[in-house]
Amino acid sequence: MIEKLKALEKELESIVLNNADETEQFRLKYLSRKGLLNDLFEEFKTIPNDQKKEVGKVMNLVKQAAQVKFDEAQVNFEETIKDSTTDQDLTLPPEPTKLGSRHPLVLVEKQIADIFSKLGFSLSYGPEIEDDWHNFSGLNFPENHPARDMQDTFFIDKEIALRTHTSSVQVRLMENQKPPLRAIMPGRVYRNEAISARAHCFFHQVEGIYIDKNVSFADLKQTLYHFVTEMFGKEFKIRFRPSYFPFTEPSAEMDISCIICKGKGCNVCKHTGWVEILGCGMIDPNVMQSNGINPDEFSGFAFGMGIERITMLKYNVKDLRVFSTNDVRFLQQFESE
Ligand code: PHE
Repeated sequence: MIEKLKALEKELESIVLNNADETEQFRLKYLSRKGLLNDLFEEFKTIPNDQKKEVGKVMNLVKQAAQVKFDEAQVNFEETIKDSTTDQDLTLPPEPTKLGSRHPLVLVEKQIADIFSKLGFSLSYGPEIEDDWHNFSGLNFPENHPARDMQDTFFIDKEIALRTHTSSVQVRLMENQKPPLRAIMPGRVYRNEAISARAHCFFHQVEGIYIDKNVSFADLKQTLYHFVTEMFGKEFKIRFRPSYFPFTEPSAEMDISCIICKGKGCNVCKHTGWVEILGCGMIDPNVMQSNGINPDEFSGFAFGMGIERITMLKYNVKDLRVFSTNDVRFLQQFESE
């Protein structure tokens, strides 16, 4: 039997497989269930036990050699088959390169800026690290006002802090420019708050001021009403609630009817049908006075809104933490904007 196997080994060595057809013939002849190697295995069962070890060794080698030859040939011919039957149209233009997407907060900030720029508001920016004067004192915050408390503000030292609102840029504008003043001031602000679905230790605001002769609360209402209609459409109502800010008098907070449930009541509006989107009011004469603008000659309004809140309503986002976790699955949705 050893002789037979050696002869078969020689035979296998001499075979050259040139194409897929020959390879299949090879498989049928040697490796299939009715092939030569299988016959030899049958014969192997009949030889005396003391020869089995030696014969078995040779037999395995021959079988392996046949298998390797077949495998190699198969891989080769499969590749050529794939190459020749490729269904790609090589005249097609390439897929466009994927561009990055804009962050939703950037998109909404730009929309806000566009709406106000059509009303003649210019853009202004201020620093995120502020002194006490611009963030608090210049805005008429009394010495012991709770907003200065360590719980709300990240202090760097006694006089310097991360700004808690963009109202600090109002002060910078008033000290540097003469009325008429009409500007919006977007930017990042910081507060020492626990992070949750509704609050974060940093977020974004857009501040707005308008100072001129005879500016009234009616101008403020009309301007903000125009903003909401441009941003969300005409079917939403707004309402003003009296409020308090040290730098405006009178002060108000503005709500819009809930965009998510259309005023019927849901988790976002806490079942009230209304969502607060901004604080506003007539600039306090004290603030004008201490920043070099004569309150007997000029009046003005100011407002400040959270960009996250507007974005959540606009795109139905329920947790503001997604704005800063950089999950591409979230961010990619804004690709085409
Ligand atoms: N700065 C206020 C806040 O952060 C908002 C505000 C701005 C209120 C301007 C009135 C006028 O809550």
